[in-house]
Amino acid sequence: MSLDAPREVRTARSVAEVYDYGAHVWSWRLDGQPVLWTSGSSRYERGKPLRGGIPVCWPWFGPGRSGDKTPAHGLARVSSWTLKDLRETPDGARLAYQLTSRGVPEALPGTDWTLTYDVSVGEDLELALTVTNTGSVPFSYELALHTYLTVGDVRQVSVSGLDGASYLDKVTGRRERQEGDVTVTQETDRVYDGGGEIVVTDPVLGRRLLVSTEGAANTVVWNPWVAKAAAMSDFGDDEWPGMLCIEAGNVLEHAVHLSPGAAASVRYRAEVVPLSAPTGY
Ligand code: BG6
Repeated sequence: MSLDAPREVRTARSVAEVYDYGAHVWSWRLDGQPVLWTSGSSRYERGKPLRGGIPVCWPWFGPGRSGDKTPAHGLARVSSWTLKDLRETPDGARLAYQLTSRGVPEALPGTDWTLTYDVSVGEDLELALTVTNTGSVPFSYELALHTYLTVGDVRQVSVSGLDGASYLDKVTGRRERQEGDVTVTQETDRVYDGGGEIVVTDPVLGRRLLVSTEGAANTVVWNPWVAKAAAMSDFGDDEWPGMLCIEAGNVLEHAVHLSPGAAASVRYRAEVVPLSAPTGY
């Protein structure tokens, strides 16, 4: 079954499209320019993930820590969330979504939980995902806000803010340490320890994307490059130079453990500045 059309919210400077399916922020344009990347080959089908925008990955990342979980990246991105509140003003629009264990009991069997997801768009994009353990048994989960950013040409982009960070290279399976800025010269799939403030400098589009995260122990950097893009049916063969995922997460050994009554949040903020402006970071 195909998806209903996304909700469109508008502010003075921006337009965003958000699907209730997955509480998936699909597009965000600032002054007419796309900041999030979307694939022209994405499927729009219930039960399948969208390719682009911001998938919410929960309660596992990829195949999970056990390596055998399906669907990849968990059930939240292929579940219908409830819109609890929607406010639009010329300065900003805010959508508040919720998903509970009543709707998706198979996500973490035997547990009770509520996910709330606040999406704010205006001059910047702000996301806040909170997981609350509403039951009487503890549980743990992985999470990622899997943000696909539009870039002019990923081969010319540099990513600062991860210098010195340890990372798992998922392409080679090895642990490495980042030296200097991250550049993308081949398939890149890395789980960095650390988050905070990241700057994506894009000389082709003449802008910097300032990303800041809170509550995320990991930053995932992903570009599939040539062969992997060609192998994915929902990703155009020639689309890979135009995107770079900078994801905020708590994955692998940084999975979150929540006691009954406890809550944990991850925040992600993205801002666009011209290349000539100081970053402030
Ligand atoms: C990234 C993972 O976050 O998502 C990659 O690190 C994965 O390993 C990519 O290939 C895309 O995942 P999916 O399930 O949307 O194809």
